[in-house]
Amino acid sequence: MHIDIITVLPELLESPLNHSIMKRAKEKGLLHIHVHQLRDYAINKYGQVDDTQYGGGAGMVMMCEPLARCIEKLKDERTYDEIIYLTPDGVNFHQRIANMLSMKQNLLLICGHYKGIDQRIRDKYVTLEISIGDYVLSGGELAAAILVDSIGRLIPGVLNDETSALTDSHQDGLLAPPVYTRPANFEGMEVPEILLNGNFKLIEEWRHEQSVLRTQERRPDLME
Ligand code: ADE
Repeated sequence: MHIDIITVLPELLESPLNHSIMKRAKEKGLLHIHVHQLRDYAINKYGQVDDTQYGGGAGMVMMCEPLARCIEKLKDERTYDEIIYLTPDGVNFHQRIANMLSMKQNLLLICGHYKGIDQRIRDKYVTLEISIGDYVLSGGELAAAILVDSIGRLIPGVLNDETSALTDSHQDGLLAPPVYTRPANFEGMEVPEILLNGNFKLIEEWRHEQSVLRTQERRPDLME
């Protein structure tokens, strides 16, 4: 998969996309991430990419020309399956969307700042608008990092044990069950007996039960 990301703050994306599983995905050649500095497409030598909003009001708006120039250049190089704008007024991000995006070849992500990007860029180029939750971040970069991480780990071959993504919370509409490792007794707290007896059918049943209980307790909305 190839992911291009347009941002004014590439530094914010460096660490999250270059460690752990994302690093492994890149090293295996399964994920290619290219971060593009929007200021390279600025309207003047001062690197201007934003301006005050028409109609008045606080906050700057990211201008059409730099974004259009950058997007057009990238579109000349490849055909995108989706051009995604990270914004708090987008559709709520969900595991279903991550699953869908993990099957694409080419994605272009646009990180907004300040009051956001000019509506005409959204109208002309953006095919999907995603919010990672009902709160406002200072910019789209952290949201983009979350999106890329959640998609990247689903690409076949990225995780060593392919089944481990399938048993994640949300993958089957339920929260994941509790997990335990050594020691079997920690300060008097025992690992549930059933996990120690080697009966995998019973263990699977117990895990499913625990998933259902946890989901009913914490996220009843998911049970509907
Ligand atoms: N940019 C600012 N806040 C955001 C959010 N909640 N989701 C996605 N992008 C954002």
